[in-house]
Amino acid sequence: MTDTLNTQSTFDLPTVRYIELTDEVATSKIASQLAQVFPAGVIYLIGGLGAGKTTFTRALLQEKGHIGAVKSPTYTLVEPYQIKGQSVFHFDLYRLNDPFELELMGIRDYLDDRNALILIEWPQKGESVIPAADLQLTLQIADDDITRHLKIEAFGPIGIAALTALNCDFSQVQKGWEAP
Ligand SMILES: Nc1ncnc2c1ncn2[C@@H]1O[C@H](COP(=O)(O)OP(=O)(O)O)[C@@H](O)[C@H]1O
Ligand SMILES: [Mg+2]
Repeated sequence: MTDTLNTQSTFDLPTVRYIELTDEVATSKIASQLAQVFPAGVIYLIGGLGAGKTTFTRALLQEKGHIGAVKSPTYTLVEPYQIKGQSVFHFDLYRLNDPFELELMGIRDYLDDRNALILIEWPQKGESVIPAADLQLTLQIADDDITRHLKIEAFGPIGIAALTALNCDFSQVQKGWEAP
């Protein structure tokens, strides 16, 4: 039976958007805008070394109100923050050998906090141990080495709400993503 009363289906809402970031300032700007529409949840950051995952995270945390450095947790795997009373965890799993190491680190305790904001670089390395993403951001370095092609994918109501609220100049064409 079809539900004809439900006029706004999730199919009307965006689940993927593409943005061309012409320089580092543009990357920081979209990160700040996202900070304003994404109060809590899980963001995956995908992209090669130097793609801009940490740069993006830095701008997002500064917009949230963090004062001071945002250093890459390459060796520590996670850097915890308290920002205006909210727990924020910035993971970089590049050097993770086995997702089980995250269990040993006590990741479950971190993730018990439903109001936490969690950003995860190299989520592929965390496999089943890390929580599912509300938003997945993929950054590609363009041929000029400065431009980044950003793909934002939203999963579930939290991610879709954030993507819907994000007010920026989305690319009409999927620049940089034509080729696999
Ligand atoms: N458009 C851009 N967006 C983000 N970073 C850029 C951009 N253009 C140049 N950069 C540079 O690329 C590097 C990105 O480094 P970083 O954010 O640490 O990458 P990752 O965390 O993905 O390995 C920085 O040195 C930054 O100054
Ligand atoms: Mg990084």
